[in-house]
Amino acid sequence: MSDICKNWTQWLKQTRFSHMNEVQIQQTLNWLFAVRDIVISKANIRENDKIIDIGCGTGLLSFGIIEKYKDSVELIFSDKFEDCLDECKKLLQECNTPNRTSFLQSDCLDIKLPDFSVDKALTRSVLVHIVDKQKAINEIYRILKKGGIYSAFEPIIKSNTRYHELTTPDEITDWQAFKDAEDDFMTDSNDPLVNFDAESIAKNLDIAGFSDGDVDVQDTPSSYVATRGAIEQWFNSAPSPDRPTSKERFLKYFSEDKVNNYILELQNALHNKMIRVTSKTIFIRATK
Ligand SMILES: C[S@@+](CC[C@H](N)C(=O)[O-])C[C@H]1O[C@@H](n2cnc3c(N)ncnc32)[C@H](O)[C@@H]1O
Repeated sequence: MSDICKNWTQWLKQTRFSHMNEVQIQQTLNWLFAVRDIVISKANIRENDKIIDIGCGTGLLSFGIIEKYKDSVELIFSDKFEDCLDECKKLLQECNTPNRTSFLQSDCLDIKLPDFSVDKALTRSVLVHIVDKQKAINEIYRILKKGGIYSAFEPIIKSNTRYHELTTPDEITDWQAFKDAEDDFMTDSNDPLVNFDAESIAKNLDIAGFSDGDVDVQDTPSSYVATRGAIEQWFNSAPSPDRPTSKERFLKYFSEDKVNNYILELQNALHNKMIRVTSKTIFIRATK
């Protein structure tokens, strides 16, 4: 596994921005805040609600809730990993915020809360890291009170523009073989990053027992100028602390020399060119 990313806090604070320039970082932050606001608004938060932010990471959703609702709600920061909760505790002290908060170190596959214990459950980009999404959604359903709302955002990574779509066979040696490898690992049912789409999540919600599971799909096209350095980072930055980089994925199919040559040819084809990519995302809203 890549050693450039050791834990979730490091990934959230550094690794995920490593292939971006200053402008792209600012655009990404703006986009994250916009996503945060939609997830929070879809949860329809009311005074005295007990809310859990599952897989809170560095607290994007939680601090958004605190900013908007202050002491009027009860908030649980929850994550599987201690480093995330430690980071949130630190940030909470720094921003002199309310006292109706608690911390729960818990796997979302086995949430350490009784049935019917929260009014709202929120996640952002957490299911995408869980192989068994049905189990996680069942757990979220279990801990919600009757009438409670689950609101979430997830990227549908399997629908993103793939590397081979950015080039043509005359630009890349063995283009077809690299396409086949990429299509193979981008549809691996054991890989949590790509083993789902909007339809499967809708089905998961239904099976868990949610009556009105709504999955809102958004296709976001974007254009930017690719550079050699950014392309290097596409291949070497980890999509999460525990998943292989793109380079490591290709190394399961090809020798190191061949993968290095592929990256070089991709750089030669795309350096300083405007590329157009699409990413698909979903907002989930469901009531128990
Ligand atoms: C991409 S981050 C998202 C963090 C935060 N929700 C945000 O919007 O910035 C994924 C989070 O899921 C957490 N996570 C991963 N696997 C988990 C699990 N099995 N149970 C609970 N949390 C988990 C990670 O620790 C990390 O904080």
